[in-house]
Amino acid sequence: MCGIVGYVGRPQSLEVLLGGLRRLEYRGYDSAGVAIITDDGDLVTRKRAGKLAVLVDDLAANPLQNGSTGIGHTRWATHGGPTDVNAHPHLSQDGTLALIHNGIIENFAGLKAELLAEGFTFDSETDTEVAAKLLGREYDKGDGLAAALGRVVVRLEGAFTLLALHKGEPGVVVGARRNSPLVIGLGEGENFLGSDVAAFVEHTQRAVAIGQDQIVTITPDSVVVTDFFGTEVPVSEFQVSWDASAAEKGGWSSFMAKEISEQPEAVLKTLLGRVENKKVVLPDLGVLAEHLEAIDRIVIIACGTASYAGMLGKYALEKWARIPVEVQLSHEFRYEDPVLTPNTLVISISQSGETMDTLMAVKYAIEAGARTLSICNTQGATIARESDAVIYTHAGPEVAVASTKAFVAQIAALYLFGLHLASVRDTLPAAEIAAALDELQAIPAKLEKVLLTAPRIRELAGWMSDTRAVLFLGRHVGYPVALEGALKLKELAYIHAEGFAAGELKHGPIALIEPGQPVFVVVPSPRDPNSLHAKVVSNIQEIRARGARILAVAEQGDAAVLPFADEVIPIPLAGALFEPLLAVVPLQIFAMELATAKGLDVDQPRNLAKSVTVE
Ligand code: F6R
Repeated sequence: MCGIVGYVGRPQSLEVLLGGLRRLEYRGYDSAGVAIITDDGDLVTRKRAGKLAVLVDDLAANPLQNGSTGIGHTRWATHGGPTDVNAHPHLSQDGTLALIHNGIIENFAGLKAELLAEGFTFDSETDTEVAAKLLGREYDKGDGLAAALGRVVVRLEGAFTLLALHKGEPGVVVGARRNSPLVIGLGEGENFLGSDVAAFVEHTQRAVAIGQDQIVTITPDSVVVTDFFGTEVPVSEFQVSWDASAAEKGGWSSFMAKEISEQPEAVLKTLLGRVENKKVVLPDLGVLAEHLEAIDRIVIIACGTASYAGMLGKYALEKWARIPVEVQLSHEFRYEDPVLTPNTLVISISQSGETMDTLMAVKYAIEAGARTLSICNTQGATIARESDAVIYTHAGPEVAVASTKAFVAQIAALYLFGLHLASVRDTLPAAEIAAALDELQAIPAKLEKVLLTAPRIRELAGWMSDTRAVLFLGRHVGYPVALEGALKLKELAYIHAEGFAAGELKHGPIALIEPGQPVFVVVPSPRDPNSLHAKVVSNIQEIRARGARILAVAEQGDAAVLPFADEVIPIPLAGALFEPLLAVVPLQIFAMELATAKGLDVDQPRNLAKSVTVE
């Protein structure tokens, strides 16, 4: 939520800032703004409500003087609506200092009252302006920007990344972080700060993640990281594993279309180097590996799409490793007084690795003494760093706000871990582990085939653009797929959509069925002797008898479904646990195409942001 970028170096800081903001816009797109110290030593700012394009057009019409020091912000509104005044940057009382913020300052009301009593005035309704005014007050004590920032941050409660510059210190940008992300980009004669590496990856792939409760000062030739009290702390550099082209649309109509098409590669790369001689190799587990045998219970925590990946993980881990697994929404988890012991493994799943609800749940688990493993798509992200171990999904940057390729990569990572655990616990014969790994490794090629169904799904979506509600049904592993199909449709096409376990229908939801009601049904394979195929076909008949329009996602050649479905979208043959990796794709494409048919922005749906860094 909110993207921030800071730059010191060449005199073209405005271009660097706008390039960074363009790549960070997925984090929030209510308003955007920049502040620059010009080469004449002035502090100039410009900020506009609306998407980044509004700011860019404004700057083209009324150019801003450029300089070599700047900060930029793209906002997802929390305190105060998306207006020009509430947009960042915010200024100190005398207008010599500018500040941008990602997060929420929970005690802003008390601090504002203190400042008002001292005669400070406020223009906006934001919590951020309080930090700007406080920083201005502390700067006037004369010991420099970093020291002043240290005195401010110790008074703030909540989550924040702050960046600031002052016209009295050209060539310096300072930043601080608590529970909100901030990464340094290391250049030659220039340095960068960003909410994530996307902010600067077109300039440098050398990065440093800033730890919790730390302050950073960048100049063109130096980077200094301290704790909140000014004591220098060591940092470690990492290489960003993707380049700027990976975060470009590359000829696709949207990032979403591109990312859906990248799913074969997302799974392939997540498996790469982790399967050897029909065995899982997970050096990623580090010290956690020593404790795996003692683990007697697993709790998976995640939100939204990632939680549906978690549900699929439960089926696989319980089946293969014969260990009890619970799946909890991160934001509910710590309020339920969960039973956690050193033998509980808490697995967090997060594409961004910054979701505040999940981060807080991880911290809770650590404090309660549980072991923690994260499945994460963003190198150096906070959740990954906090956890005992991390299995990175190598899906590459996911820019579209709604998750697609990260989901399949998360399932692949969970399945790898499940098979590894089965081997450690000796719950599955080596031959069955090998067969499951073969299945997993065959998924990328099968995903390529599923992607070929896109033109037909586009036609279907085109016909259905005035549909008001869509239901999704599935059983067993088809159930999380149904939930994910419904979520994608809600968030992309703003259509009321519900996912149900098909067996639950007769307990209430069947009352929703009326003639013409579209229902997607995820049909399990008829080849699996334990499969629920016959039961799902019965469920189809029950709703068809009441007039539902059936859109079935079924295994290629499933003759039993054909007579009862209005449309069958075929997926290649796969083992039961592996079908979700294929069946979800037509549902993603459907949501994207329906939103496109309605003329909506599929990359940046209304009211959403990519990383939800507020609770
Ligand atoms: C839906 C979607 C969200 C995220 C959720 C968790 O398309 O993207 O539901 O899955 O906000 O985000 P991460 O995985 O970054 O923790």
